[in-house]
Amino acid sequence: MSQYTEKVIQYFMQPRNVGSLEDPDGVGEVGNPRCGDVMKIYLRVRDERIEDVKFQTFGCAAAIATSSMATEMVKGKTLEEALKVTNKDVAEALGGLPPEKLHCSLLAEQGIRAAVEDYRRRQRGEAIPVGAPA
Ligand code: FES
Ligand code: FES
Repeated sequence: MSQYTEKVIQYFMQPRNVGSLEDPDGVGEVGNPRCGDVMKIYLRVRDERIEDVKFQTFGCAAAIATSSMATEMVKGKTLEEALKVTNKDVAEALGGLPPEKLHCSLLAEQGIRAAVEDYRRRQRGEAIPVGAPA
């Protein structure tokens, strides 16, 4: 028997919003120090609102399911609202995670934060977009 809820398995088997965006407005890349798993998240932002979001996660089932659920939860939200989505909210939306897998859901929360920060840096003209000509 799996320790995962139906929903976690669903989101792991058929993750939503997988992939990347061309010319994203913000990119976040974070790693989980506990396991070395990584997540990359891409944002398209219009008028302070997340118009589109995609992710690539190289991680365990819980990391992929939470990344997927988190992208669904922040899509359409303003940046401020998106920053309020915590890993606990994401885990709850999935019907819960086994306690030893809760830390995996931090990737999604931190990835979104990192992408929003990257977006804001770019708005201030402090960062060169990834892939921009030198
Ligand atoms: Fe492996 Fe998260 S570190 S389960
Ligand atoms: Fe690494 Fe779950 S095992 S995020």
